[in-house]
Amino acid sequence: MKIVIIGAGNTATVLGRKLSAAGHEILQVMGRSGAHAAVLASTLGCSYTCNPAEINPEGEVYLAAVTDSALGHLGETLCLPGKLIVHTAGSVPGHVLRPVSGRYGVFYPLQSLRKEMDTIPEIPILVDGVSEDIRNLLFGLALTITDQVIFASDLVREKLHVAATLANNFTNHLYTLAAQYCQGESIDFALLYPLIKETAGRISHLSPMDVQTGPAVRRDQLTIEKHINLLQGYGYTRELYIQMTENIRQFYGL
Ligand SMILES: NC(=O)c1ccc[n+]([C@@H]2O[C@H](COP(=O)([O-])OP(=O)(O)OC[C@H]3O[C@@H](n4cnc5c(N)ncnc54)[C@H](OP(=O)(O)O)[C@@H]3O)[C@@H](O)[C@H]2O)c1
Repeated sequence: MKIVIIGAGNTATVLGRKLSAAGHEILQVMGRSGAHAAVLASTLGCSYTCNPAEINPEGEVYLAAVTDSALGHLGETLCLPGKLIVHTAGSVPGHVLRPVSGRYGVFYPLQSLRKEMDTIPEIPILVDGVSEDIRNLLFGLALTITDQVIFASDLVREKLHVAATLANNFTNHLYTLAAQYCQGESIDFALLYPLIKETAGRISHLSPMDVQTGPAVRRDQLTIEKHINLLQGYGYTRELYIQMTENIRQFYGL
């Protein structure tokens, strides 16, 4: 398909590379900053513009991968009557694009994407559209870059986004706190990599609630107290440790 990419950040770059590798023709990148748009256009071998009035009118799909807050303002500068425009946001309804075009949809990659990625991981894609033909078209487009495509309404997508934030963003924040603690105590955080990988791998075939380990679920009070002591000087992390321990206890009725 002929695709115009709006935005030049992480999602625009990764989806642009995937779509291009799948044989789609990326006609143009339209960006806010000329420098970012130029870099992505050069990666994808297409032209770029920062001027909405110069957007290529030949696109079959306009993929708007801009920040969630910018989506609501696209219609102030961009008008693409009859053209299919989609956004890539988890928590923004599809109809935010209505001022741009009555043919709108969503093409949401359920993955953590960074433009620097050398190897692009598996990306489940959740699609939605204002009509059945748009939903089917987007489903087919998504299938060209991934094996995992599902239709998902705005509400289902938002709920999945909540789950993704809990499972991914919050976990990453805990990695950050653990790394900070290791650094403060002159311990090599890399020693934890095998453990982190094992836990993440395990829950792809076992229920996470069945494989909880650690002192809280073992009711190992002496160890918990030692840990809390060793977290003196890490006030916020210490509070979180106490709260998470309590949460685990309550969850398992301990
Ligand atoms: N990254 C992820 O892991 C991920 C995963 C799934 C979905 N998403 C969704 O994908 C969308 C883009 O996220 P991202 O992570 O790719 O963000 P990003 O890397 O920060 O890139 C955002 C892009 O939006 C442009 N932009 C920002 N404000 C703008 C404005 N007011 N007007 C026009 N353009 C503006 C930026 O322009 P400049 O180039 O000038 O800075 C940049 O090109 C979001 O809706 C996000 O929810 C992201």
